[in-house]
Amino acid sequence: MDKIIVEGGVALRGEVQVSGAKNAALPILAAALLAEGEHVVANVPDLADVRTMGRLLSSMGCEVSRSPTPRQGDGGEKLGASSSFLVRVPARVRPEATYELVKTMRASVVVLGPLLARFGEARVSLPGGCAIGDRPIDQHLKVLTALGAEIAIEHGYVMARVPSGRLRGAEFGFDVQTVTGTENAIMAAVLAEGTTVLRNCAREPEVADLAAALNAMGARIEGAGRTEIRVQGVERLGALRHTVIADRVEAGTLLVAGALTGGDVRVKGFDPVHLAALVEKLREAGAHVEAIPDGLRVVGNGPAHPIQLRTAPHPGFPTDMQAQMMVLLAVGSGSSVVTETIFENRYMHVLELRRLGADITVDGKTALVKGVPQLSGAPVMASDLRASAALVLAGLVASGTTEVQRVYHLDRGYERLEEKLAPLGARIRRVKA
Ligand code: EPZ
Repeated sequence: MDKIIVEGGVALRGEVQVSGAKNAALPILAAALLAEGEHVVANVPDLADVRTMGRLLSSMGCEVSRSPTPRQGDGGEKLGASSSFLVRVPARVRPEATYELVKTMRASVVVLGPLLARFGEARVSLPGGCAIGDRPIDQHLKVLTALGAEIAIEHGYVMARVPSGRLRGAEFGFDVQTVTGTENAIMAAVLAEGTTVLRNCAREPEVADLAAALNAMGARIEGAGRTEIRVQGVERLGALRHTVIADRVEAGTLLVAGALTGGDVRVKGFDPVHLAALVEKLREAGAHVEAIPDGLRVVGNGPAHPIQLRTAPHPGFPTDMQAQMMVLLAVGSGSSVVTETIFENRYMHVLELRRLGADITVDGKTALVKGVPQLSGAPVMASDLRASAALVLAGLVASGTTEVQRVYHLDRGYERLEEKLAPLGARIRRVKA
């Protein structure tokens, strides 16, 4: 098991390229199940979760391979920073996602919609507990039932089938905005009979990227990225050929690293529109953020000003950036208030930041962050993906050495983060524990 060692105190400088988005790549790879044949997905990040999705598709009978280098477009241009995935889907698959795989990655649940849409049956393990919250999938099951599926929970598995053989279009309103719930619903509706109208949908850019990939396969989806999405079902879909969008959460993490260290960093290869809420808060906290071609430049400007920060569904402030932003505020001036509204247990990083000398008090959904002049390095333990990124960032400004353990959490969602930070001047390395 690896750990990451960081020596604090260096202002980061330079340019860094963002990889493909994990949270777009996962549902898009699952969408391959919707059509027999050979599918190619470019700009897929090399992450533990993506490898899990690959294993999941293989376990169903698909052939999955990865081309090591980024694919080239017709003009020889590089398609994204990451490599490509080739998925061969047979006429019939084993419509099952076992507990062994789902327990390692709850996002595996996004195979439910495509399996039901194309094969009329699915056996998918219920995702177990999660460090950041309860995370039920009731909305996924409700919308699939509305589209005509019969669903039972047996022995820890979602047992689903379509008695009529084909899902049928319906009108459905989500009780809460759910990203993967919206994605499952769209993937179920694209092959359904008739029209589906989905309301109170998640508006995350990853949902819109999935819809773009599906429309390129011949689907008829309108409104992705808005709260109301209409899907006109079609008989069948063609091959998937798509380049995944860049990872806005990785981009955000690198921007906060630049601001936090008082550096000057150019983060490239993503759409700044996807991070408008973060940019607003970085500026409010005093950092200089400017648009550059194909990205953003951030210049740190001393300790962060105190701010109020509240997470919300997109286009609100992303919960996946809450922990990283808390580090910036922990070494800021004055007291900031952070409110986590999406997940009920997403403050695990606070205990570890306190070990580094942070002054943070949590009361239910709200954390009061009193800025301190300096953190001091220590061994800390990662508890989940974004918490681990926050601990690495804290190490960049803590005096002395910070040792982040259990970085397998980090590797689930960052393509070797230390190799992105080191060229910017960070004194960071990965060692075997
Ligand atoms: C997606 O998770 C992301 N994962 C998460 O990123 C992200 O934090 C989250 O959206 C919110 O932005 C992927 O895309 C693979 P939700 P998802 O369903 O879809 C409640 C990361 O760090 N809810 O939008 O699982 C739920 O409990 C990960 O990369 C129900 O009540 O999140 C939560 O409070 C972590 N019933 C809220 O909705 C349901 O059926 C939003 O969850 C579904 C969700």
